Amino acid sequence: MNVRDQELREQAMKRVAAYENIVNQDPYRLHYHIMPPVGLLNDPNGFIQWKGTYHLFYQWMPFKTGHGAKCWGHYSSRDLVRWRHEEIALTPSDWYDRSGCYSGSAIAENDMLHVFYTGNVRDEEGNRETYQCHAVSKDGISFEKRGVVARLPEGYTAHFRDPKVWKKDGRWYMVLGAQTERLEGRAVLFTSQNLTEWSFLGDLTGSNTDQLGEFGYMWECPDIITLDGKDILIVCPQGLEAEGFRFQNVYQSGYFVGELDERKPALRHGDFEELDRGFDFYAPQTTKDESGRRILIGWMGVPDQDEQSQPTIPNEWVHCMTLPRELSLKKNRLVQKPVQELRTLRQEEKNAHISLKQDTEMLDVKQPEKAEILLIPQYIEEGFDISFRGAARLIYSKTDGLLTLERNSYVDERTEARHCRVERLKDVNIFLDSSSIEVFVNGGEEVFTARYFPYPGNNRVSISARKEIKAEVTSWTLA
Ligand code: FRU
Repeated sequence: MNVRDQELREQAMKRVAAYENIVNQDPYRLHYHIMPPVGLLNDPNGFIQWKGTYHLFYQWMPFKTGHGAKCWGHYSSRDLVRWRHEEIALTPSDWYDRSGCYSGSAIAENDMLHVFYTGNVRDEEGNRETYQCHAVSKDGISFEKRGVVARLPEGYTAHFRDPKVWKKDGRWYMVLGAQTERLEGRAVLFTSQNLTEWSFLGDLTGSNTDQLGEFGYMWECPDIITLDGKDILIVCPQGLEAEGFRFQNVYQSGYFVGELDERKPALRHGDFEELDRGFDFYAPQTTKDESGRRILIGWMGVPDQDEQSQPTIPNEWVHCMTLPRELSLKKNRLVQKPVQELRTLRQEEKNAHISLKQDTEMLDVKQPEKAEILLIPQYIEEGFDISFRGAARLIYSKTDGLLTLERNSYVDERTEARHCRVERLKDVNIFLDSSSIEVFVNGGEEVFTARYFPYPGNNRVSISARKEIKAEVTSWTLA
């Protein structure tokens, strides 16, 4: 710990205390999602279950509601549902990370928790340097920095970051997001035998390689996982053009399913699929927990997406995480299910049978600012829509095989929409928090994730039938 580190910690804690009341009176503070105590949160980092406890670190700018020299904030949990804010894990206090302890990951080895992150350094002229750094902890709370373990190889710009580390056959691997000097996004691989000396292996895949055409000028936050014997690269490409219903957000987050050959290195893979159909989803990170589940948490935000217009900004905080979701693979597509522990939040179950003909009915959702709704249709003619507190709508057109999430834009109140194709609608599981909505469709085969900002007094949740709908609807208050 150096003097700068001490100062930054003290200043951050002062800000938390000074703004506690302002932040907490915001009606858009979430009830059961992770958010920053003050300031800005972005990517999840270092997600791991270690000695029974889940640790989720995050990109935290405690000093303003904008980006800058990030710390690693820290939450811990025994059950993925109730989280405790811990002391700051890393501050940007050293020469190699002074403009930000950027995103990275955690692994456990020899009774220690190890984290790998990107040290971001910028000089007065804005020139960037990047260093892959290592820190260790005996208790999972306080970390000792070990400094730089990998440097920028030739042929890439300093947009080279976000190490995700794993072990296979006794060796360590680190995947990073990168940009070539020709401004092509790439995922690259390093390897190590001892966690301290890393050597560069090469590109796995990326824009303008033999498997992809133009595919973005930078790739961020890669993650490599194995499910059902398939290797999957999850990654966030920047610079893709919108194409029909796809790639509608400023930057994308999705995956390639394939086969990884670490020695070459190469990832043979299929097409890029988006992970989420909503407005706010980026930089997800996964971990395999002690029960063997692959769990994903994402940032419920997207960089450069009008963040300063979010209505929480005047109250000195912005952004939150998605719910934790269990991943599985079905027909080469990732399926995301809210983790089962979330059921422990369920209170006051209500059951209703809906039978509507060209009509609208209120749904019995007592506290829609913290609720879960499960809708199982029995019969649909044409389609239906569900309206959430006057600020968002889920619209199903059976005729077009299309599901749409609309919301009032937080920039100008205009209605904006995201869509995906759904051949047959079997179930819809919706999680509402005071300023977020997550819609899991057909057991998580499709997901829409979004922030939304209803007028706090408007608690109306209603369903309308285009022609006819019969459905079972269950709802719970979540507390
Ligand atoms: C993604 C990202 C990462 C970077 C971090 C900085 O949102 O840009 O690439 O490490 O955020 O906060």
